[in-house]
Amino acid sequence: MKKGNTTIIVGAQWGDEGKGKIVDVLSENYDVVARYAGGHNAGHTVIIKGKKFVLQLIPCGVLREGRKSVIGNGVVLDPFAFMKEVNSLRGMGVKVDGHLFVSNRAQVILPYHRMIELAAENAPGRVKIGTTSRGIGPAYEDKMGRRGLRVVDLLNKDLLRSHIANACREKNMIAHALFNSEPLDADKMFEEYSEVAEQVRPFVVDTAALLNKSLNAGESIMFEGAQGTMLDIDHGTYPFVTSSSATSGGAVIGTGVAPTAIDTVIGVTKAYCTRVGGGPFPTEIHDEMGDILRKRGNEFGAVTGRPRRCGWVDLPLLRYSAMINGISWWVVTKMDILDELAEIPVCVAYKINGKKTSEIPADSGSYDKIECVYEKMPGWMTSTEGITEFDQLPAKAQSYLKFMEKETGAKVGMVSTGPDRDQTMFVEGFKAVVGQADKKHASPK
Ligand code: GDP
Ligand code: IMO
Ligand code: MG
Repeated sequence: MKKGNTTIIVGAQWGDEGKGKIVDVLSENYDVVARYAGGHNAGHTVIIKGKKFVLQLIPCGVLREGRKSVIGNGVVLDPFAFMKEVNSLRGMGVKVDGHLFVSNRAQVILPYHRMIELAAENAPGRVKIGTTSRGIGPAYEDKMGRRGLRVVDLLNKDLLRSHIANACREKNMIAHALFNSEPLDADKMFEEYSEVAEQVRPFVVDTAALLNKSLNAGESIMFEGAQGTMLDIDHGTYPFVTSSSATSGGAVIGTGVAPTAIDTVIGVTKAYCTRVGGGPFPTEIHDEMGDILRKRGNEFGAVTGRPRRCGWVDLPLLRYSAMINGISWWVVTKMDILDELAEIPVCVAYKINGKKTSEIPADSGSYDKIECVYEKMPGWMTSTEGITEFDQLPAKAQSYLKFMEKETGAKVGMVSTGPDRDQTMFVEGFKAVVGQADKKHASPK
C-alpha cells in the first residue's frame, strides 16, 4: 500500500563522502529522514549559511523544520551520546522534541562494548582496524549473538538491572581473561543507565510502524546512509570495515520499510577519494600530493579528528558500488578541492598479477596486489567554488563528470562545490527524481 516517494542516500566509498550535506540539501523535498545503520561512529557535517552542525546519530533532516527524523532499528544507540546530541541541538534552537523518533528495536551500546573494543584493538596479534572506539562492533556482536539490549528493554528497570548484572559478570570475565582489563561496576552502570533511559523514553516508538504509516499517507522518506559501501560488513574491504550494513540493502533491514517500497538509490562520492582508519585503498596517494588534497579538502575526521588518507577517484570501486547498491544517480562532492590541479589521475581499471580484472577482490591480500590503471584528465585550474549551475562549470570540469558517468553507467544528478548548503547544483533531470515534500510542512529553514 505504499504511496509516498522513497530515496536512499548511500556513501559510495569509505565514508565521509559528504552525505550529511547532501541529505540536508535534499531533505527540503522529503517529509521524513531516517537513519538505518551505524551509530555515533558517523559524523555528518552540515553548514547552513556559515553555521556548522556535526550530527552523529540524529538524521540531518532534523535541521529542517517540520520534518520527522527517525533513528531506525538498524542503528546502535549510545543513550548518553544521543542525549548529548539532543541537548546540543536544543541549545542551538533546533526543534527536536516531537519531531525525532527512536526505534524501540534499536540496540543499546553499553560501557563494556567500548571496554572490549579498546582492549581488542590494542591486543597483540589482533588485526588493528583503526575503529572509532565507540563500542560499535561489540554492540553489533551482541545483537547478532542474541544477547544485546534493545531500547525497549532499556526502558524496563527490572530487565535493565538483570541484563546489566549478567552482562557485566560475563564481560568482566572475558575482558579480564583476554585483555587483563579492570572490571566494570554493574550497580553504578544500572544507576546511570536507568536515569538516562528516562530522558530517552519520550523519543521511543515503533518506528517501522511510523514509517509505513507515513508512506501510506503519501509522505516521502529519505534514508540517510552512514559510513560507506566499502565499510559494509558484507560488501566492504573485510575485515577493515564497520559492523553494520551500510549499503542500500541495510535501509530496509534497518528500518522495516519493505524492499518493494524503495524507488531510488543515490550514491554520494567525492570527486576524489578518502579513507580513515586501516585497510586497503588502491588509489591512495603516498607522496606530497596526498598532503595537498588533505589540506585543501580539510580531510580530518569529523568524529575522531584523525587525518584522512587521500587518493584519486576509483572507477572500478564506483562501478562496484553502483552494482551493490543499485545506484542510478551520483552526487559528486568536493569538486572545488581539485580546482588547482593541472591534471587529475582517475583509476579506470585494476590489474592483478598483470591481468585486468573487472571484479573487486574479496581478500585483503589481493588488494595489496592491485595495480591501478590511470587515465590522466586535464585539470580546469580555475575556481569552481560556490558554482550552482552545471553549465557555469569550466568545460574540463564538465568533461571530468561526464567521464565518471560514462565509465560507471550512472548519471551525475548533483554536484557540490563547497561545504555550505547553497554551494550545490542540480543537473537537469535530477529534480524530478528527488521527491516532493508534502506541501503542508514544506518550509525550509
Ligand atoms: P559524511 O560523513 O559523508 O556526512 O561527510 P563528513 O561530514 O564526515 O565529511 C565531509 C566534509 O566535507 C565536511 O567537512 C563537509 O562540510 C565538507 N564538504 C561537503 N561537500 C563539500 C564540497 O563540495 N566542498 C568542500 N570544500 N567541502 C565539502
Ligand atoms: P560517516 O557516516 C568514515 C571507519 C573507522 C574504521 C572502521 C571501523 O561519517 O561516513 P567502527 O568504529 O565503525 O567499528 O570503525 O570504519 N568508519 C568510518 N569512516 N566515515 C564514517 O562514517 C565511519 N564510520 C566508521 O574509521 O576504519
Ligand atoms: Mg563523516
